[in-house]
Amino acid sequence: VTELETVVLDWLAQALGLPACFLSTGPTAGGGVIQGSASEAALTAMVAARDKYLRETLPATGTAFQHEEVTMVKKARMVALATTLTHSSVRKASLILGVRFRTVKVRAEDGYALTKAGLAAALAECRSQGLEPFFLAATLGTTDVCSVDDFAGISAALEEHWAPLGGPGEVWVHVDAAYAGAALVCPEVQQATRIALVSRFHSFDMNMHKWLLVNFDASCFYVRNREWLVQALSVNQAVYGNKASDDGLVTDYREWQIPLGRRFRSLKIWFVLRSYGIKGLQKYIRRTIQLGEEFAAELRSRPDLFEIMTGPSFALTVFRLAAKAVEVLREEGDALTEQSVVEEQKELEKRNALTKALYEKVNATGRIWLTSTELDGRFAIRWMTGVRTTEKEHIETAVKTLVEIAEEVMASQELGQNQPGRQR
Ligand SMILES: Cc1ncc(COP(=O)(O)O)c(C=O)c1O
Repeated sequence: VTELETVVLDWLAQALGLPACFLSTGPTAGGGVIQGSASEAALTAMVAARDKYLRETLPATGTAFQHEEVTMVKKARMVALATTLTHSSVRKASLILGVRFRTVKVRAEDGYALTKAGLAAALAECRSQGLEPFFLAATLGTTDVCSVDDFAGISAALEEHWAPLGGPGEVWVHVDAAYAGAALVCPEVQQATRIALVSRFHSFDMNMHKWLLVNFDASCFYVRNREWLVQALSVNQAVYGNKASDDGLVTDYREWQIPLGRRFRSLKIWFVLRSYGIKGLQKYIRRTIQLGEEFAAELRSRPDLFEIMTGPSFALTVFRLAAKAVEVLREEGDALTEQSVVEEQKELEKRNALTKALYEKVNATGRIWLTSTELDGRFAIRWMTGVRTTEKEHIETAVKTLVEIAEEVMASQELGQNQPGRQR
């Protein structure tokens, strides 16, 4: 059971193009373990990061009590970093661990990615407040818009503004690729996301159960050095004693995770990898990405009705109702005045309300299912095609339904449009 898990996770790491440091046979004694969820993986990474940081930055001197005292003082200064689009599981991990948590704002003009400049500013702020960042969550495929953080920029910011990666007191970087990590089976995605750069980072996680054909639960979590997990999570009890463990002949995955007991989850991964093969997985991922492109192209062909806000990215398109839906009270290039700011806010609220009406009416039909988010105060609709059973006909139904109801929402808006506006 344990051996199969080690083997299939090494196969998967290679299929995803992860650097060799995450393989059980790699140069840094890394390896993978199947967790129940990406949330569990984030928490596990954060526990190990905290332990590693404390070990590297606090001298093991004095009595046990004195060490405990300085550790508690240090813990109070430590902070976990993420971005405004990082999945909420990372905030939850910091809540569970009782550590400080700060987010770096990611911006539309950067494609909602964490950049070198954004991280550098956050590190400078931490320094000025006497805080010590020990953990950073980077994302490959944010939940809201599927953006990818700038891995090269993150390395550079950490090197220049905190501590060299690989040295004591470095910030642990956890790459959360819960959903979009599946697409890494395609070499073109490995290149586009520059996945090789994660060799400088500490952990990586993706959920096969999201977009890679394995049933819940199969969150594949990798670390560059498995000792980091074992040192943080090894709590021995006499009752666990056995010769194989004592002689170091087996991997005790209980020391790589929060629970003690675990399920035999590697078998279902084995079945998927063996029955599809890498080519089969690539074909499936490319097909679902292509469907997303086709959906977005259909929306683009109706600029009178829709505005694509992001994507398609990893089969996810985020959009809202076109600006034509509301009365635009300010010409582009007009100087901003106090009055125009108020007018712009009114337009935004109205457009949000109309986009929300579209979203609710479409979902009420029961024909398709949309999800939503909010980006910088703008209500947005999310539509994704990363599902095995999605076919061309579903895209056609989705577009037809969206067009029909968007036209209806626009028309009802035009009929009721008699509020006093600015004269043009
Ligand atoms: C980017 C990302 N990270 C983490 C999660 C949390 O996943 P889980 O339900 O496996 O904890 C999600 C869930 O949608 C996600 O999209």
